Amino acid sequence: KAKVAVLISGTGTNMAALLYAAKAEACPYELVLVASNNPDAAGLALANAEGIATWAHPHKGMDRNAFDALVDERLRAAGADYVALAGYMRILSDDFVARWAGRMLNIHPSLLPKYKGLHTHQHAIDAGDAYGGCSIHIVTPALDDGPVLAQTEVAIAPGDTAESLARRVQFAEHQLYPATLAAFVTRERNPDYLLGRVRELAMTLPEAD
Ligand code: GAR
Repeated sequence: KAKVAVLISGTGTNMAALLYAAKAEACPYELVLVASNNPDAAGLALANAEGIATWAHPHKGMDRNAFDALVDERLRAAGADYVALAGYMRILSDDFVARWAGRMLNIHPSLLPKYKGLHTHQHAIDAGDAYGGCSIHIVTPALDDGPVLAQTEVAIAPGDTAESLARRVQFAEHQLYPATLAAFVTRERNPDYLLGRVRELAMTLPEAD
């Protein structure tokens, strides 16, 4: 199985979705580490209870490059092949992104390329969009950029607030992330398994080193 490290900063519901999907025998990945820049992240206790190794270190007062180098060291020590960002609310250094190029995914709560950054649901509501949603993309140096592997559209209902929409988008995220990660880590050996967009991109992506 592919070895995946998950980076979180908060609640960690997407990490939990990745973790529970990985309990299925047929799942092509396993979690080897859940790491955080926030020692109080609720997801750490959950991962611990489920027997997954965790590591946390506060980023406060540390230089971005130094902090990311520390994280990188832990990911490597854990034997990670891939990194899944799941509510990791830190901008990554270029060095870190380069080290994990083609092997790091992020989940973002909008239909990219719309609404990068924060307050995505409010932006979608304010713009009068019919749909919000979520995207999984390969991480490149620019924020919330990089090839989109998969998306789920979530209809915006009359009276939706950013909070009510966020809740429904999270249900969609919890389905989409495990499926997309599984498709991504098997893209070379298991073309039949791939989701449509992942299949299309697998043909054009450079090999990770
Ligand atoms: C998720 O909705 C994720 O899409 C979003 O943070 C939430 C984390 O929830 N990510 C971003 O906004 C990244 N820019 P979780 O901790 O319960 O998985």
